[in-house]
Parts: sequence; C-alpha cells; structure tokens
Amino acid sequence: MKKLVVLDFGGQYAHLIATRIRHMGVYSEIHFPSSDPSSIADLGGVIFSGGPSSVYADDRPEFNAKWLDVPVPVLGLCYGHQTIAQESGGSVKRGLTHEFGAADLDHDGTSPLFKDIPSPTRVWMSHGDEVETLPAGFSVMGTTRDCRNAAVQNLDKKRFGVQFHPEVTHSVHGEKMFSNFLDICGFARDWNMGDYAEQLMEKVRKQAAGQKVFLLVSGGVDSTVAFELLNKALGPDRVLGLHIDNGLMRESESAGVMDFMKAQGFDNLRIADASDLFLSRLDGVWEPEKKRKIIGDTFLDVQAEETARLGLNPDEWLLAQGTIYPDTIESGGTAHAATIKTHHNRVPAILKLIEAGRVMEPLAELYKDEVRALGEQLGIPHDLVWRHPFPGPGLGVRLLCQTAPYPSVSDDDLSQAREVARKHSYAVSALPVRSVGVQGDGRTYAQPAVLQGPGDWKSLEAAATELTNRVRAFNRVVYQLGGGLEFTAHDAWTTRDRLELLRKLDDAVTQWLRENNHYQAVWQMPVVLLPVHCDGKEVVVLRPVISREAMTASFWEAPMNQLPGLTQRLLSLGAGAVLWDITHKPPGTIEWE
Ligand code: XMP
Repeated sequence: MKKLVVLDFGGQYAHLIATRIRHMGVYSEIHFPSSDPSSIADLGGVIFSGGPSSVYADDRPEFNAKWLDVPVPVLGLCYGHQTIAQESGGSVKRGLTHEFGAADLDHDGTSPLFKDIPSPTRVWMSHGDEVETLPAGFSVMGTTRDCRNAAVQNLDKKRFGVQFHPEVTHSVHGEKMFSNFLDICGFARDWNMGDYAEQLMEKVRKQAAGQKVFLLVSGGVDSTVAFELLNKALGPDRVLGLHIDNGLMRESESAGVMDFMKAQGFDNLRIADASDLFLSRLDGVWEPEKKRKIIGDTFLDVQAEETARLGLNPDEWLLAQGTIYPDTIESGGTAHAATIKTHHNRVPAILKLIEAGRVMEPLAELYKDEVRALGEQLGIPHDLVWRHPFPGPGLGVRLLCQTAPYPSVSDDDLSQAREVARKHSYAVSALPVRSVGVQGDGRTYAQPAVLQGPGDWKSLEAAATELTNRVRAFNRVVYQLGGGLEFTAHDAWTTRDRLELLRKLDDAVTQWLRENNHYQAVWQMPVVLLPVHCDGKEVVVLRPVISREAMTASFWEAPMNQLPGLTQRLLSLGAGAVLWDITHKPPGTIEWE
C-alpha cells in the first residue's frame, strides 16, 4: 500500500499532519528529515512539516537533500516551504515583522492544490522568516497582505509550498487542501484502522523476532491496548504483563482491566504491590520533575526486581511501553521540541534502554483517539476504551506537595490582577502554590489566581484569558465554587492520608460525571489536592477539559446549576474549598504538575 511520509522538522503540531492524513484514508508515517528516502518503500507523497528553527540557523534540523528529488509530489508547510525554496536555489529572508494569526489568502483558482477552494480563504500564519526569491520553475499562486510568496508551485515537478499551516483548524479550508494534495499524489484512500492493526502487529512480530516481550500494564487505556495488541501479535506465551501497584492508583482504576484480561483468557498478567517503596521514596520530595523521575525509576527498579524474581533473562526479553505520541513530544523527545514536562516513560534509564534497542513502543505514533479506534478494532469493550486518560505517575502528579518558603506574588502583580478582575466584577487573590504551564512552546512554573464572586462562564473565560496574558505572575486561573475564603500554604508530602482523601474526592467526581451524563462530553477531569488550607482542610481543584489530542485543551463549562450539589458533596467529604480550573491549554497544562 502506498504511504504518505511526513518529514518532522520539529514543533509541537508537526504530527497533527500525519493524523489528519490518516483520517482521510491514507496511511502516513513520520520520518526524520535526515533520513534516506530510498530506504522507504511504497512512497506516494511527502509533506515537509513546519518547525521552530530558521532555515539558515546553525542548529537547524539536518536535511537529506535527496528528499527534493523524490519521484512523487512534495508539499512544504511553513519551515518546510522555506526549506524547499532555499534548497532548490531560491532564498529566504528574515521577515521585518513576525506574522502570527489569521490572514486572508488570495489565489486565482488555477492551482490543483486550491481546487474548489474560494478566494480569499482564511489561513493561519505563524512565522518570522519568509521566502524572498523563488527557485527556477516555481511561480506564485497565492498571496496574503503581508506575505507575497504565501503559496508557490512548480507544477511540472509537482512541488508545492505554503507559508501557512493547513493542519490547524483555524485554516478554514486546510483539510480540503490536504485532500487536494492527496488527489495530486493519486492515493486510493483505502486505508483504515483494521489495516493499521494488522500492520502494527506485523511490525511487532518483526521487531520482537525470536524474543519475548515484557510490558508494564498501568491499567490505563494505552497500556491496555498495547497489551491486547502484543498478545494478539505474538501470542500469550511470548508476552508477560506486570501491573505494579504504586499506591498512586485511583479507586478501582485497574480492577476493570484485570477483570477484562481474565475474561479474555489472558493469564499472563501479574500484580506486584510496591506501594510502600513508592511512597517511601516520594517522602520529603515536592518538585514535580523530581517526583516524576522517582516514580519512573521506581517502576523500573520494581520491574527489574520482578524480572529477576521470575528468572527472566534480560537478553531474551524486550521491554514494551504503551507510549503514545504526545508523551514523546512534550518530553522534548522529538528532535527539536522543547521539554514541557518529562513523562514517566522518557526518564534517563528508559532512554538508555531505547538507545540499546531494548524497548518496543507499538503505539508511539498514535494520538489518543487513534489508540481508542485501535482498541475497539482489537475488540476491547467500548467502556474500557473510552475511560478518561489517566497519567502513568497517577495521583502522584495530582497530589501537590511543597515546603517553605511558599510562593507569593508582588503587590504590583496583585494590584494589576485586581484591576482586571474588577473589570469583570470578580474579586481575586493568589493561591500560595505553583503549577506547571506551557506558553510559546516552553514551560512555566507559576502561581494560579483565584476568582471569587457570582459568575458566568463567558465573563470568567474573558477574565482568565486577560489575567494570564497581562499578569506574568499567573499561568493559571481558577474559580471558587465553595468553601473557606482564606488560603494558607503549608508543608505537605505524598502521604497515605492525603492520597486516601484525594482518592475519595476523585471517585465522587467520576460518579457525579456519570450520574449527570457528562462522562463522554468531558475528555478528562483531573482532581488535584493542594498543599493549601482553608479552615484547616486541604483545597481541591477540579480540572475538566475538552480536548482531542491533549496538545491543546479548553476548560469545560458545566451547567452552572449542577455545581452547588457537587461542591457540597466534596466539602462534606473533607475538602476545605472547591475550585474549578478555568484555564485553557495553553497557557495551562491539563495536569497541574
Ligand atoms: P498535560 O498536563 O501535559 O497533559 O497537559 C497532557 C496529557 O498527558 C497526560 N500526562 C501524562 N501521561 N505520563 C502519562 O502517561 C505522564 O507523566 C503524564 N503527564 C501528563 C495528562 O493526563 C493529559 O492527558
């Protein structure tokens, strides 16, 4: 089957392209720009992604110029467009202004790339550099007010380049442009998830060749799908699953999976209770990145201990992980993306194993919705596949810890925040705690602001956006639903008591979602316990989001009239105050750390 190759020049959204193409019925794979096209079979077309570098920067991604001579159509986006121009004899210059946001593209309708697309059409721009002179054989086929060479082509050679980003939904006809490009390539569009499951199994069989595979099964959707896939591809005799109880699981999170696996007839899944070890190592640690590393390393230690106990020879057993694509991008795992947070399956010990070729990650190119489609394809029940995603480090990253000195914001920041809040008729204060955020492709670690007073979602959203944009001290905003009004920071660690409380609150929230038929509407709803007291009891944050790939997310607007009931329930279970996170991603991440 012919495939489309996406060359990944870095940047957070590069892989959206591959997923969009697969949704259109064409199999697509991601490769490095330094790779050799002659090593890729059945090439039907190529897309050069965008990327954060400059084509004349020293640290730009290494590019194999053979990609310009492939005998199939090529489409370059943003940095990819500039690469085609520069490498084929044109030139790129530093733009005077950075163009960012919506623009109107004018075109004359003659290019096959713009077939059935009106002119002008709204496109999404995000660039500093631009193509100045075109290579021989190229002509301009689209311009915007600020960008002359916004769309160019060499029809004879079937080479196309656009300065904008068709892969983001803000480019109104972006999907149609991709579809036109697939037609230019002549793809049949007969690929589907069933084929993909087969291809993945074939890949697994090849990679495992003669060896056995050991997989940590967390109980979440990804590792459940990975375990099922490995069992189907290699047979249960060559697969061993280990569920490590780290003491950081949510109520009944894993029981459902264990029951399902048993019902499937897989008796190759073992359980190890290591909660004492995890909690003792987390004792006295508050830094989010340190906690993640400890949890990741401890998983490996327990796994090594178990493999030794079971007498598994490490030379015969590969380690499999249910890593999915966003896990690798946000850990800075693709060549040129910045580290936002280190996911547990990218800690140094794992990276070493990956280098040694001892790790298999069959889901590493998939986004969550593709993993779910694959899970259904493999016959995993709908309810299991559609459970909310749960992070590998579990409640460990939802139980915030800290020790003095506690964070505080300056009087200046606070008075600026008050000015913004007043405009929208709210009171505001600063929460004495920090959380992780993501802004401009980089990580932030700052305080949340709390809005108080009667409210509606529209003005809350406006106030939250204005606060995070204008006051640098805040990377997140929450709205208070109930409880005490005075927030005091205190020392807090990962303890069984706090975990127990968080587990109860989290379970009550899940039940509330199900009772009110919201479970499907919400993508994920982390419940976070803070090292902050109100009336002597810890404060809980609810973080419901709507998302498709977890790379971006919007906070979820529940029916306001249902919130008092939920709030009362959480206060009666022992929360000192209940806060609703009203930050989009970016600038907030979904999890608080
Ligand atoms: P953030 O907080 O980065 O989360 O916006 C994006 C998605 O990833 C999940 N997440 C993790 N999953 N290991 C995981 O397996 C991790 O260390 C981890 N950190 C975040 C998060 O729950 C959300 O779905």
